[in-house]
Parts: sequence; structure tokens; C-alpha cells
Amino acid sequence: ISVAVCLLVVVVLAVALPLAHRQTPDKLKATFTERCEAFKGYDCGKIWDAFTQAYVGRDPCKVPMEAYDPLIAAAPFKPACNRMMFWSKTKDVVHDFTSKRDCFITLEDTLLGSVLDGLTWCGKEGSKETFTTDCPGWTECENNPVRSFWNRASAAFADVACGDVTAMLNGSISTPFSSASIFGSIEVKRFNATMMRSLNVVLVTQKNPVANCENASLKDLQKELDGIKYTCKEVAESQIQECSSKPEKPCGACW
Ligand code: APR
Repeated sequence: ISVAVCLLVVVVLAVALPLAHRQTPDKLKATFTERCEAFKGYDCGKIWDAFTQAYVGRDPCKVPMEAYDPLIAAAPFKPACNRMMFWSKTKDVVHDFTSKRDCFITLEDTLLGSVLDGLTWCGKEGSKETFTTDCPGWTECENNPVRSFWNRASAAFADVACGDVTAMLNGSISTPFSSASIFGSIEVKRFNATMMRSLNVVLVTQKNPVANCENASLKDLQKELDGIKYTCKEVAESQIQECSSKPEKPCGACW
């Protein structure tokens, strides 16, 4: 009997635990709506409809960036001059910082970025449904619904970059600025010198830094910024974490 009970418990847990972490289509809509409603003054039903029209009924490898134009129009990005933060290969440290301190705004802190952060979705040709499993992976095909969304949203966020802008790059890799990343291939290319005064790189370093501000890839970044002032500062990750946990420290004194 006890062997049978043990087996049953193991089987139930093996089935239930992975399911609990997986979004079902209904849960995707609930998560989207709940996160959206945290932002006041938006019609989240309308934004959901604009979202689904981008990929529903389409081959999940044939969803271009432009499919999300109506979604961006339904919830446009507002410029937050001097407070905009871009990043590449520093996701965890950046979002730990922006979630604890009200110093900077990343794409993932905006309505569209936050409602879709960490989610997976796609449609199917000839179907009106949304799927959350068996969707193409990030690199499986270029025009997949998730990657095209992040490309389009990143472009729209960079389009409104203004004043003094910050970018957190990773000093623990040999090419902190990669022209293949979203930051390098989309965002930097859309920065507009008439609206932006400067790009200020915070190069996040750990105990044994691999790259410093003299890194060749950062020279490539500088070359792309015609008319926009550039600065770079090496900052220890521990210093950023210290600022994350010290609300009394002024934003301007973090680095
Ligand atoms: N598989 C899955 N997701 C990926 C992959 C991949 N191979 N590559 C990138 N992503 C998604 C992930 O969500 C990842 O956390 O893009 C995010 C950022 O990837 P990075 O390579 O770290 O950085 P980058 O491509 O430069 O994109 C970051 O784009 O999100 C915007 O404004 C934001 O400035 C930021 C930039």
C-alpha cells in the first residue's frame, strides 16, 4: 500500500509541478491583463486585442516586427528624458536595480515591456487561438512572435530616447558592445541626436574584469553615435547592488 501511495504522490508531483510553471493560453491573458492594470488610464482589453492581432492566425515563423505597429500605437512609449536605461547582457543586475530604486526606466518597466516580460506566445495558420507551448525559440526562425515583439518594442523605446541616456553593459565578456544584440542592432541605430544629449555607458565589472572602457567594441559603439556625446565608466557590480539596497542614496551618487 505504502509503495502504491508513494508512486501516486511521485506521479502527481511529476505532472503538477511542471504544469504550475507553464503558462496556459488563459493564464497568458490573465497575466497580461493583471500586469497591464497596474498602469492606470489604459484600456487593457483594447491593448490585448492589438497584441493578439499581430500573431493570431499566422505562421509563427512569419511574424515581422511591423506586425506589432498597432500594438505600439495602442500603448505608445512616453519619453522619460534623462531617466532612460538601456542594457545588454546585464539583465539581472539592471532589473534588480530598477525594481528597487526609482532612478531609471528600462523597457521592461514600461507597460508593454512589463506585460510581456518572460512570456512566450504564438499563433497557428488557420487558427484563432493563442498558444503558449511549442512556439518557435528565439533563434529557431528570425520572424517569430516573441523576438519580433522585443525588436519592435526596443525600436519604439529607443525612438523616444532623450536627454542623457544610460546603458549598462557587461564588463565580464570580451565584447560588451555587440552589433548583433538588440542594443547594437536596433536601439543604438535609432538614437536621435536632436533629442539625445549623451549616451553614458556603465560598464558593470566583477572581481576579474575582462573588458574595460578602452575595449575595442566600445570604440565601435562610439563611432555609431554621431552628434551624441559619449562617456564610459567602469562600475563594480557590488557598487550597483549597494545602491539598489540603499534607498536613501541619491540616484546621482550611485556611480
Ligand atoms: N533566447 C531567448 N531570449 C533571448 C535571446 C535568446 N537567444 N537573446 C536575447 N533574448 C532576450 C532575452 O529576454 C534577453 O534577456 O533578449 C533579452 C536581452 O538580450 P541581451 O543579449 O542580454 O541584450 P540585447 O540583445 O542587447 O537586448 C537588450 O533590448 O530589451 C531591450 O531595451 C532593452 O536595452 C535592452 C536591450
